Amino acid sequence: MTEHRSPDARFRTSLLEDNDGPANNPSENSTMGEIIAARFSRRGFLKGSLAVSAIAATVSPLAMIAANDARAAEGSAFKFDELEAGIDDKHHVAPGYDADVLLRWGDPLFADSPDFEPTKQSAEAQVRQFGYNNDYVGYIAIDGSAEHGLLVVNHEYTNPHLMFPGIVKIVDKDGKKSAELAPLSKQQVDVEMAAHGGTIVEIRKDGGKWQVVRDGKLNRRITANTEMALSGPVAGHDRVKTNADPSGTKVLGTINNCAGGVTPWGTYVMAEENIHGYFSGELPEGHKEAANYKRLGIPEGAYEWGAHYDRFNLAKEPNEANRFGWIVEVDVNDPSSTPRKRTAMGRFKHEGAESIVAKDGRVVFYLGDDERFDYVYKFVTKGTFNANDHAANKDLLDDGTLHVAKFAEDGSVEWLPIVFGQGPLTAENGFAGQADVLIETRRAADLLGATKMDRPEDIQPNGVNGKVYVMLTNNSKRKADQVDAANPRAGNAFGHIIEISEDGGDFAATKGKWEVLLKCGDPSVADVGATFSTATTANGWFGMPDNCAVDSAGRLWVATDGQGPKATGRTDGLWAVDTEGAARATSKLFFRVPIGAEMCGPLFAPDDQTAFVAVQHPGDGGEDWEGFGRPSYYEDLSTRWPDFKPDMPVRPAVVAITKQGGGKIAV
Ligand code: FEO
Ligand code: CA
Ligand code: CA
Repeated sequence: MTEHRSPDARFRTSLLEDNDGPANNPSENSTMGEIIAARFSRRGFLKGSLAVSAIAATVSPLAMIAANDARAAEGSAFKFDELEAGIDDKHHVAPGYDADVLLRWGDPLFADSPDFEPTKQSAEAQVRQFGYNNDYVGYIAIDGSAEHGLLVVNHEYTNPHLMFPGIVKIVDKDGKKSAELAPLSKQQVDVEMAAHGGTIVEIRKDGGKWQVVRDGKLNRRITANTEMALSGPVAGHDRVKTNADPSGTKVLGTINNCAGGVTPWGTYVMAEENIHGYFSGELPEGHKEAANYKRLGIPEGAYEWGAHYDRFNLAKEPNEANRFGWIVEVDVNDPSSTPRKRTAMGRFKHEGAESIVAKDGRVVFYLGDDERFDYVYKFVTKGTFNANDHAANKDLLDDGTLHVAKFAEDGSVEWLPIVFGQGPLTAENGFAGQADVLIETRRAADLLGATKMDRPEDIQPNGVNGKVYVMLTNNSKRKADQVDAANPRAGNAFGHIIEISEDGGDFAATKGKWEVLLKCGDPSVADVGATFSTATTANGWFGMPDNCAVDSAGRLWVATDGQGPKATGRTDGLWAVDTEGAARATSKLFFRVPIGAEMCGPLFAPDDQTAFVAVQHPGDGGEDWEGFGRPSYYEDLSTRWPDFKPDMPVRPAVVAITKQGGGKIAV
């Protein structure tokens, strides 16, 4: 009989509940989330949307006034009829829009790709098919077209209990049913590795509907085994040399690619986020990387890759983990090109890498390190962007200055350079050069006195209004005596959004101003302290901002991760958030995901006529939803979205949202 383990012990990117940075105090206080959970437990007695308004009425008369204000909602930059918040097994979009599934896990990407057969999965098939858990979505136009381009999509991680038949056993523990997972076979691990990475696929809009071009000559899968180059200051350093790569310049694959970006010169950048989960084993006694790995939570051992591949076992390959945690750049115009890990951009749990060209032509990348009490960064290239010669931009990301943010109480922000030899980044503190500083970016930022944030996720520069939007998803561990102006709530269960204005409107500036755009959560519960405008309806508020997008009109759209029956009484989704004028901080629900899913993407086509969104880990959960009420796994799923066929498992998928009859979205 095989030994089973709980899937809850498995790595869950969206929650990170057991992933505390060293700055964390491990003790638990009562959090705002518990207050809200208590409140939503009462929802069980009520049904549907009536429940939301009925509770609002019992909680606060102010909520009713707010609801009336909401119906006016004049001044909003977004014109659409709001969707109703809720929870069920389907996706929903605002009235008057179509939300069509474009690409599902397992869909064929090449003329010779095998059809998806969930009971006969193999790595050979998976590398020719769309990967698992789509996260970042980017669009690279072909010949400047808004209706024909390359879609680039990250595949962040895998959920074996939803992917593979026959590996979950339900056990009764203290009267509660829970799921236990059998160890994966090598064949299943190989499928997992092939389902990671990214997809580059040609798409075209025909008759108002997007289609995948299956024989697109630039179509490509990138996986955890694709050969990559380490480039920049860390390439060839002793700390990245392994038995398989004594040169310290060649790495196999990329993992846990969360958000990312498309550069001004049309390459695809993928952010390696929660890399710690893939490593297991123990470093040799007294190994010099021990403190470095501890700061990143390595090894977390959630994946079993180390049981089958030595490079994921720290005892056998102590340096392999230094080769992950980077930003990866992919030249999408050559499917045989070698992706490059751009080490100048630092090594941490990279959430994303959205960029903008500064006034003087240098290119600025905003980078979040998604962990409680970790930091906000930006990288400024040394060279300038050449719009007329794309090849001239080829190695811009190998040379530049990484900075970390220090947010002051007076509303100013300083971007501190992370440069060997400056300030505390010297031999006295164990750095022999810039390679050491970059491998241990977090420790360098600790020494510089950067501001500890509430889990920095996506960071989006907005070229229309000149501002920068920072999604801070939550931090239930922040204590009252750890509150600061930029992280103003203790037990921050619902997160907030910071808006930065760089000095002189220059994205490359080393100083700026900041303010909190929005504190998230239910505004009708006074204790939550949410600051949505009073025009925001009972459907319009949200918690846990994660990914975001700015459309070509400069309007902000926010996707969430971590809502659900207990947390907020609604699934994750995409909200439109006003940033300008009297409507500032008004939010409206546009799209929501099925039970268990997180909302990734989002991305607007250059003509604003399509919103691409990625539905990640649908069906992952269902215990707390009154419509299911038990563990969700391959044989007994809380949703079989999007196919709803009994022989087809739930499948993460990218959805294309268009206005019925055509036209720009929310105009
Ligand atoms: Fe992969 Fe920070 O979300
Ligand atoms: Ca997330
Ligand atoms: Ca994310």
